[in-house]
Amino acid sequence: PEKPTIYKGLVGVYADVSSVSKVMPETNSLTYGGYAVQDLAETCSFEEVAYLLWHGELPNAAQLEAFKAETSSQREISPALQRVIREFPHDAHPMDAIRTAVSFMGLEDPEAGDVSDAAQRRKAMRLFAKIPTAIAAAYRAAKGQEVAAPDPKHSFAENVFHLIQGRVPQPEVLKAFDVSMILYAEHTFNASTYTARLVTSSGADLHGAITAGIASLKGPLHGGANEAVMHMLKEIGDPKIAREWLQSRFDHKALVMGFGHRVYKSGDSRVPTMRKYAEKMAEVVQDRTWMEISRILADEMLTKKNIHPNLDFPAGPAYYLMGFEIPLFTPLFVASRITGWAAHVFEQGADNRLIRPLSWYTGPEQRPVPPMAAR
Ligand code: CMC
Repeated sequence: PEKPTIYKGLVGVYADVSSVSKVMPETNSLTYGGYAVQDLAETCSFEEVAYLLWHGELPNAAQLEAFKAETSSQREISPALQRVIREFPHDAHPMDAIRTAVSFMGLEDPEAGDVSDAAQRRKAMRLFAKIPTAIAAAYRAAKGQEVAAPDPKHSFAENVFHLIQGRVPQPEVLKAFDVSMILYAEHTFNASTYTARLVTSSGADLHGAITAGIASLKGPLHGGANEAVMHMLKEIGDPKIAREWLQSRFDHKALVMGFGHRVYKSGDSRVPTMRKYAEKMAEVVQDRTWMEISRILADEMLTKKNIHPNLDFPAGPAYYLMGFEIPLFTPLFVASRITGWAAHVFEQGADNRLIRPLSWYTGPEQRPVPPMAAR
C-alpha cells in the first residue's frame, strides 16, 4: 500500500471530542466550561475553577464550601509515604519525587483499582488535596527540614506557601499564585493530558494516569519550560546583555525557552494576565531585573522571529519572585494540572475507546533469522 499521510507530533489531528476546555487559536483564547480563563483568573479562586473543571459548572456558595471542606480534610499524607519520601535521594528532582509519591499513593489508596466514575472522582479529590503536601515533604526532607503539617483552615494557595515556605505571604502574593494555578489548570489535549487519557483508555486507574501525566509534564518542551525559563533569565542575569545573549541563541539555532506554542501561533491569552501578576511580584520584591530581561527577550523574539511567549515565560519569574526555588516550578504546575488531567480521565472513562494509532513501518523487509554463527 501507498504511504499514508503521517501526522508527526499529531499536528492538526482531532483525536476525540471534549467539553472540558476550548482553545481558539484564531483569537488566541482559552475557555474552561465556556468561561475565558483570564476572567476566571481575575474573579475566581483556584478552588472554584477546580470545581468547574470537575463538574462543568461553577459552584454556588454552599457547593464551594463543601468542596473546600472535603479537600482540606484530605491533605495529610500517610506516615508510610512520609517515610518513603525521607528515603528519596536528596538530589532527586522534585518532579521525579512527586511522580513517585503519586505512584505510591496509588499503592495505598483504598479504591486504587476501582475505575468507576464515582471512585475515580473520590481518588482525584484525594490526590488534589495531597499533592502539595507530598511536594513540600519531598522538598523539605531533601533539605533536612521537618515536614510541616497541612492546616485545614488554609485556602489552597495559603496551604502551598505554608507547607513549602513555612509562611503565608501577603494577599497580593497569594492572589498571583492563585492566578497561576487557574491559568495552569487545563489546556485541552496537550502532551501530559493526552498521556493521562491514553493510560485511561486501556482501563487503567487514575493514579496510573496521573503518574504518567507527571512524567510527561516534566519535559522542557512542556511543563519543564517554566523552570528552563528561569534558568535562562538567571544565565542572562543582566538586562544589558539580553539582546546579545539572544543573538547567540539565534546563531546556534537554539530554542528560546518559554516561546512558541503548538496551537497558538500569534499569542497565548494566558500570558498578559500572568505577566501582570509577575509584574506585581517584581514590585512586592522590589526587583525588576527578571521582568526587564523578559521584556527585552519578548520584544526581540517578536520582531526578529515573530514568535510569541507562552504561559511558562511569565510564570517562571513569577514563581521565582514569590520565593520558590526553581526545581519546584514544574511540581507547582502539577499541583494545578491534576485538576485538568482528572477532568479528562473522567471524560475518557465515560465514553472510552482504546487509543491505538497505527505506525508506518520503515524497518527491514521480512527476512529469515540467521543462525548465531552467521551474525
Ligand atoms: N525558540 C526558537 N525557535 C522556535 C521556538 C522557540 N522557543 N519555538 C518555535 N520555534 C521555531 C521552530 O524552530 C520552527 O522554525 P522552523 O520553521 O524554521 O523550523 C518554527 O518556530 C515553528 O515551530 P514548530 O517547531 O513547528 O513548533 P511545534 O509546534 O513543533 O513546537 C513547542 C511547539 C512549544 C514545542 C516549541 O515552540 C518549543 O520547543 N518551545 C520552547 C519550549 C517551551 O516553551 N515549551 C512550553 C510550551 S507551552 C506550555 C506548556 O506546555 O507548558
